[in-house]
Amino acid sequence: MRTPVVIIGAGPAGLLLGQLLSRAGIDNILLERRSPDHVLGRIRAGILEAVTVEALERAGVAARLRAEGLPHHGIELSYAGERHRIDLQALSGRHVVVYGQTEVTRDLMAARHADGTPTVYEAEGVSLHDCDGSAPMVRYRKDGVTHEIACDYIAGCDGYHGVSRASVPASATRLFERVYPFGWLGVLAETPPVADELIYASHARGFALCSMRSRTRSRYYVQVPSSENVDDWSDARFWDELRSRLDPHAAQTLVTGPSIEKSIAPLRSFVCEPMRFGRLFLAGDAAHIVPPTGAKGLNLAASDVLYLSEGLIAQCRHGNASLLDAYSERCLRRVWKAERFSWWMTSLLHRFPDADAFSARIQQTELEYLMSSEAACRALAENYVGLPH
Ligand code: APR
Ligand code: PHB
Repeated sequence: MRTPVVIIGAGPAGLLLGQLLSRAGIDNILLERRSPDHVLGRIRAGILEAVTVEALERAGVAARLRAEGLPHHGIELSYAGERHRIDLQALSGRHVVVYGQTEVTRDLMAARHADGTPTVYEAEGVSLHDCDGSAPMVRYRKDGVTHEIACDYIAGCDGYHGVSRASVPASATRLFERVYPFGWLGVLAETPPVADELIYASHARGFALCSMRSRTRSRYYVQVPSSENVDDWSDARFWDELRSRLDPHAAQTLVTGPSIEKSIAPLRSFVCEPMRFGRLFLAGDAAHIVPPTGAKGLNLAASDVLYLSEGLIAQCRHGNASLLDAYSERCLRRVWKAERFSWWMTSLLHRFPDADAFSARIQQTELEYLMSSEAACRALAENYVGLPH
C-alpha cells in the first residue's frame, strides 16, 4: 500500500488534518488504535477560538457547530465571594464558541466516513520507520494481519502517549515540562448551567470552574490534589465541594443532578522542540500539552494542523517546501504563547500546596490588579479568545 500522507491518531488533530488534506485533493490514510466509540467517549474541553471555528469551516465541518455552538462574549472570575465579568468582545473584538470537543470529533468522523477516506480503527502495534530517510513507512496490525504503508510524510497526531514522538531519538529533541501538584476532578451532568457564562473561581479551598456543553448540560471542575482517587468522590461530595468554592449567588442557584461522567485529569505543561523529525511532523498533544485552565489544548491542535496542511499542500501540489520547512517554527511561536497564558491562568487561580506567604500575597495582588485594571483584563481577553494566526 502507498499514500502520500499517513496520519496517526483520530483525535481532533488527526481528523481535522485529514479533512483539510482531502479537500485539497491529497490522499491520506488514518490509523487509530482505539474504536470510534472509545474515541467519542472521551470527555474533553469545549471552548473554540474564532481561528479554530475558521479552520473547521475551511474543512467543511462547521454546519452543526454554527447551528448548535453557543457564542460566549465574556467569562467571569470569582474571587473573595464576588464575581467579576471580563467582557471578551469589548476588550478584544472577538468571542469564543462553546462546542464540545467530542462534537467536533463526531462531525469530523462523520465527514471522513461520508467521503470514504480510508481510516483504520483498532490498528494495533503501529510503528514508524525511516522517518528521517527518503522512504518512510508505517506498519500496523489489524485483525492479526500485519500491513505496511509506504508514504512521503507521516503526521504524528497521536497525543501525549502516542508512538510518534516516542519514535524520535531523544538526542533529536528538547523537552520542556512542568507537572503541577494537582489535577481537575470533572463532572458532566444533565443540568442547566449555573450561569450564562463560564465562571473561573479562585477560592481558599482551591480552584473551581463552571462550564457547559449546552443550555441543558453542565461541565464542572474542582481542583484536587494529584493523589486523589475518583472513587472517593460521590456525586454529593463533589457538589458540596463545588458549592463551597462558588460565590453565594452561584452556590444558591447551582442545580445538581446525577453525574454522567466523572474523572480526574492531571495538569501538565509540556513542549517538544522541534515539532519535525525528517518526514515526521508532530501536531497537537503529541507535541505539547497545556493545563486546561486557558482552554487552549484543542485550539493549539487546530492551529498546528492548519499550518501542517498548508505546508503539505504547498509541497505535494506545487513542490514548494518552504511552508513545510517553516512548520515547526511557525507552530512553536504560537504554542509558547499559549503555554505562557495557560501557565499564567493556572498560577493565578489555583492553590499551590507549597506556596509560602509571599507567593500567596503576590497571587492575591495579581487577582486584585486584574479586577481593577482594564489593561490587565484586556491582556487576558486577547489571549483567551486566541492570538491571530
Ligand atoms: N497508534 C494509533 N493511534 C494512537 C496511538 C498509537 N500508538 N496512540 C494514541 N493514539 C490515538 C489516541 O487513541 C487518540 O484517539 O491518537 C489520538 C490522539 O488524540 P487526542 O489525545 O485527542 O490528541 P489531539 O488530536 O492532539 O487533540 C488535542 O485533545 O487532549 C486534548 O487538550 C487536548 O483538546 C486537546 C486535544
Ligand atoms: C470545559 O468546558 O470542559 C472547559 C472549559 C474551559 C476550560 C477548560 C475546560 O478552561
